[in-house]
Amino acid sequence: RPRVTLGALAAKKAAGEPIVMVTACDFPGAQIVEAAGVDTVLVGDSAAMTVLGYDSTVPVTVDEMIMLTSAVRRGLWAPLLVADLPFGSYEASDELAIATAQRFIKESGADAVKIERGGTTVERARALVAAGIPVVGHVGLTPQTATSLGGYRAQGRTADGALRVIEDALALQDAGCSMLVIEAVPAEVTRAVMPHMQIPVIGIGAGADADGQVLVFHDLLGIYGGSAARFVKRYADLRTEMVAGVSRYAEEVRGGEYPAVEHTYSMRADEAEAFAA
Ligand code: KIV
Ligand code: NA
Repeated sequence: RPRVTLGALAAKKAAGEPIVMVTACDFPGAQIVEAAGVDTVLVGDSAAMTVLGYDSTVPVTVDEMIMLTSAVRRGLWAPLLVADLPFGSYEASDELAIATAQRFIKESGADAVKIERGGTTVERARALVAAGIPVVGHVGLTPQTATSLGGYRAQGRTADGALRVIEDALALQDAGCSMLVIEAVPAEVTRAVMPHMQIPVIGIGAGADADGQVLVFHDLLGIYGGSAARFVKRYADLRTEMVAGVSRYAEEVRGGEYPAVEHTYSMRADEAEAFAA
């Protein structure tokens, strides 16, 4: 399978073929999504919650995200790899945004970086693109700044709110973004913006009109124990299976059933004799 480029994703959009994006945040996860044949992989800062146990995406650091992205890179070949720049690592200035994004590209092998919101992020996106770094925008519900949006809730449900989401999308496209994520907005908002978007638009909780969809790995496989948003569909219930597997192991150790003969090494007979003597 050839490596997926931004050009290949644009071609999929042009051909009307849905683009499949999923998150991953470690080496086995990367191997799994690679084997499943997805088009693009996001090392989302949702990993702050799903694998690092923070209660929001806000506390995760650049070093933590680089460690996760590097692990994904080692397990990934074909899909285009996008990394989230964490909260506080790009907003303050163009220089900060470029320096942070360059670390993700150099140290972890990301192909592109994702940054959240419109507003000053539009300027950061333009600066990153000018520095030769492919950028993915993110509008609608932007979890890094959820507090100022009134919490983790759908955006653009009022006429004014819908216009703000659409303006952000257009501004990010105009700034040179290669792709856009649109999260937790009514289907009407996505439907209204799509005719104006030349870049691939990846939806999550944004209806069926986007060019593609993204879901969080731990959500779609039922690994994450936290409560799921309306838009999450569970394609597996791995947490239950994992707890059952570890429980059986614990039972067998306590019951003396594990390890059995077939799990146990032994010495060659002559060596065992010499050893006993
Ligand atoms: O962090 C993340 O997983 C994301 C996706 C949900 C788009 O940003
Ligand atoms: Na994110």
